[in-house]
Amino acid sequence: MAANLAIASSALSTLYRIVVYLFLEVAPVSKAKYVIPLLYLGYLLTSYFGAPAFSELVTLKEEVVTVEEEKSETNGQVVTDVTVQEATAVIPVVEPPTLKSALSIIIFSIPSPVRALRRANFLINTLLLLAVADFVFFPYFDSATDVVYTRVGAVYPDAAKIVVRYPAANATENLIRLVWRQKGGKNESEVPWREGPVANLTAERDWVQTVSLRGLWPSTQYEYRFEGLNSTLLPYPATPIHFHTAPDPRLHSGSHYRFIASSCMTPNFPYLPLQGRRIKGLDLLADYLWPSESHSTAPSLPTLLAQNVSSVVSSLAAKVTSSANSTSAENVTAPAENVTTPSSVASEKNVPPTEFMMFMGDFIYADVPIYFGDDVEAYRRLYRRNYNSPSFRKVYERLPIIHTYDDHEIINNYAGLGNTSLPPYPNATNAFELYNAEANYDPVDEGQYYYDFRYGEAAFFVMDTRRFRSDISSDEPSSHTMLGDKQLAALYNWLGKVNNTAVFKFVVSSVPFTALWTYEALEDTWAAFPYEKSALLSAFQSVPNVIVLSGDRHEFAVIEFAAGDGGHNVLEVSTSPMSMFYVPFIRTLKPRSEEVVNRTKEEVVKTEDGKEEVVKVTEEVPREKVLKYIAEGNYKWSTIEVDTRDYDHPVVRVETVIDGTPAYRLDVLGKPVKLQSTTALGSLMPESFRGVLDKIGLKPSRWF
Ligand SMILES: *[C@@H]1O[C@H](CO)[C@@H](O)[C@H](O)[C@H]1NC(C)=O
Ligand SMILES: *[C@@H]1O[C@H](CO)[C@@H](O)[C@H](O)[C@H]1NC(C)=O
Ligand SMILES: *[C@@H]1O[C@H](CO)[C@@H](O)[C@H](O)[C@H]1NC(C)=O
Ligand SMILES: *[C@@H]1O[C@H](CO)[C@@H](O)[C@H](O)[C@H]1NC(C)=O
Ligand SMILES: *[C@@H]1O[C@H](CO)[C@@H](O)[C@H](O)[C@H]1NC(C)=O
Ligand SMILES: *[C@@H]1O[C@H](CO)[C@@H](O)[C@H](O)[C@H]1NC(C)=O
Ligand SMILES: *[C@@H]1O[C@H](CO)[C@@H](O)[C@H](O)[C@H]1NC(C)=O
Ligand SMILES: *[C@@H]1O[C@H](CO)[C@@H](O)[C@H](O)[C@H]1NC(C)=O
Ligand SMILES: *[C@@H]1O[C@H](CO)[C@@H](O)[C@H](O)[C@H]1NC(C)=O
Ligand SMILES: *[C@@H]1O[C@H](CO)[C@@H](O)[C@H](O)[C@H]1NC(C)=O
Ligand SMILES: *[C@@H]1O[C@H](CO)[C@@H](O)[C@H](O)[C@H]1NC(C)=O
Repeated sequence: MAANLAIASSALSTLYRIVVYLFLEVAPVSKAKYVIPLLYLGYLLTSYFGAPAFSELVTLKEEVVTVEEEKSETNGQVVTDVTVQEATAVIPVVEPPTLKSALSIIIFSIPSPVRALRRANFLINTLLLLAVADFVFFPYFDSATDVVYTRVGAVYPDAAKIVVRYPAANATENLIRLVWRQKGGKNESEVPWREGPVANLTAERDWVQTVSLRGLWPSTQYEYRFEGLNSTLLPYPATPIHFHTAPDPRLHSGSHYRFIASSCMTPNFPYLPLQGRRIKGLDLLADYLWPSESHSTAPSLPTLLAQNVSSVVSSLAAKVTSSANSTSAENVTAPAENVTTPSSVASEKNVPPTEFMMFMGDFIYADVPIYFGDDVEAYRRLYRRNYNSPSFRKVYERLPIIHTYDDHEIINNYAGLGNTSLPPYPNATNAFELYNAEANYDPVDEGQYYYDFRYGEAAFFVMDTRRFRSDISSDEPSSHTMLGDKQLAALYNWLGKVNNTAVFKFVVSSVPFTALWTYEALEDTWAAFPYEKSALLSAFQSVPNVIVLSGDRHEFAVIEFAAGDGGHNVLEVSTSPMSMFYVPFIRTLKPRSEEVVNRTKEEVVKTEDGKEEVVKVTEEVPREKVLKYIAEGNYKWSTIEVDTRDYDHPVVRVETVIDGTPAYRLDVLGKPVKLQSTTALGSLMPESFRGVLDKIGLKPSRWF
């Protein structure tokens, strides 16, 4: 009986340790919240009830031990080792512990007659339980109610949105004023600070507020800080925060800039003890963006870059003649293959500035590893926790960030049915709005989370894939919608507008657009909405240079959507997690779709008499094809470089960094787009006109 209990105890304890390891280091699956305590309890009970039988043995054993000790004193004999199998199977064999047997007792948690070893096992398992509790309940105990922070969100050519959180003790409101000035040029200490908007911070809004700074000049450097209403400078930020405005969209002078795209993060995963505020992926991002200031002991960037970088050239043009393919590839691959030059070193001349980060959802995990409930505070706490992270602070104080949400800002695989009063949506979005959404670009339609914007010669549409999503288990599949009618209309309208007014068009979807991800993705991604997806894809393929950005799968992949004749290829770059788990071993991405498209290709053939001749051939290509798939890595982001300086050869360069090391490069050759003249951009005039009036002191923005 005791032996059976001992075996059970050993087995339970070992299983417990494996589960804890998987939970803390591989994937924090929610079910572990039941399994881990149960296993621990099982271990405690079996080792406790296994113990009495042992206590008899212990006395017996202690005698033996003394005898042997005496022996070894007299003739110096070495005691034989116990092997693991023997110990598990025949526990009553009494042997004084040697180093090796003690180690196996600890490693396999074999109940031992030696009290110190039993205690060591108990201690180890209890520490593991504490580690789990530390990971799970950290946000509850470190609720970050006092976190003070500011960040820049949307930047326009003539305005910027700035978020500030400044809680006040013993007050119902805290009024603080943003003061700002232009940077650069003149003797800076002589440039006066100008009074900006006042933020009315209240407990009701969790002391956080987004203010808009208007009347700015395009492509200009600014700095800001905060004052009380009596003009005393507030201690935070200790040094002014810098940002610059977006370029003037009416100047078609070519764009060259980068932005970061990623999604999914949870602080301190994979777990390290007592590091609850760390978000390692963002530490790595800060080192990558501003390497000269990092003091990390990581290998130098050139070394890292020399490894593992594979370069590929993809083209958004559907019809590529073989000769054009090879020449344009030559021209564009050259810089990409030159990997000995680290392109991520900021001092490098040809590296453009990184302008913003596009965070594509799962910014918090409301329900992983456990769901703290649907009250407003449970959601707000998780946002505060992220802004309280020193890792994130390094990034958000220097880089504008814009957001969309995904299911984990609400609850796993959420489908909103277009009903905003469906719990927990109202409470979840209250927090999302305060902390993340208000600083996004203005929504297309009032009160919505989808929005569009342009940055230089690229245009962006950021979808809301949750609020209007249908329940796919009901009704006719053809009636299912991901975006809802109103948003679809806005998206089509945008496509038409940017068709000839922007070179690259980025469509941001929190969930992958491709249907190649299988298993659970078949229900949560666009794969579950084949009709709407197919219609959208045809629309995308009628517009040159559309690139879809997505996240969600905790994996990285590039997918090409082939167009038939006359259409344009579409590319999807799906990048995640920023700092979260990835699933080892199990691969869920199909390499290509069964669905194919026909297209005509021109091929140069040499005729018998040595002449070159162009012939047309029809080929069948998969509608969706994986160009690159990298599943491994807890920390992933893509740097997207937009380069439209050469009008005939616009290019988007993708550099994907995994665990701090550039792992993949892709040059996406765009089609030249003849941008329509400024008169066609009439819709932009009122806003810039407004900006001019703002600058001369009138505030027409109040009239609209
Ligand atoms: C807030 O009030 C509490 C008790 O009323 C007091 O102990 C504390 O010092 C006050 N804090 C400030 C900053 O005034
Ligand atoms: C900048 O202005 C300050 C105050 O007027 C003055 O003390 C300082 O010498 C000036 N610096 C330069 C470089 O002109
Ligand atoms: C600040 O906001 C609160 C709550 O919305 C409001 O009651 C208060 O009047 C506002 N204060 C100022 C100065 O606008
Ligand atoms: C300004 O107001 C703050 C509190 O809001 C106070 O601590 C500070 O002493 C005031 N400064 C002056 C110069 O009145
Ligand atoms: C286009 O270029 C790629 C990469 O260099 C090559 O693999 C492919 O075969 C080329 N296609 C044609 C039609 O030449
Ligand atoms: C490649 O570059 C060369 C010179 O830089 C230029 O003359 C040529 O037209 C380019 N070819 C293509 C296909 O872009
Ligand atoms: C790589 O870069 C170096 C320095 O910029 C340059 O001299 C060299 O020609 C480049 N090599 C290729 C293959 O482009
Ligand atoms: C939302 O939060 C409020 C306040 O925390 C709470 O009273 C309410 O029960 C929560 N749930 C819903 C569905 O509104
Ligand atoms: C939206 O959801 C709420 C809460 O479940 C429900 O009471 C209401 O009837 C729903 N509205 C519509 C239009 O379905
Ligand atoms: C984009 O423009 C092309 C031609 O200019 C047109 O055929 C296509 O339908 C347009 N696409 C959209 C979505 O407006
Ligand atoms: C492609 O062309 C073949 C014949 O050339 C035809 O049988 C097939 O249906 C076409 N497929 C599509 C998707 O159009």
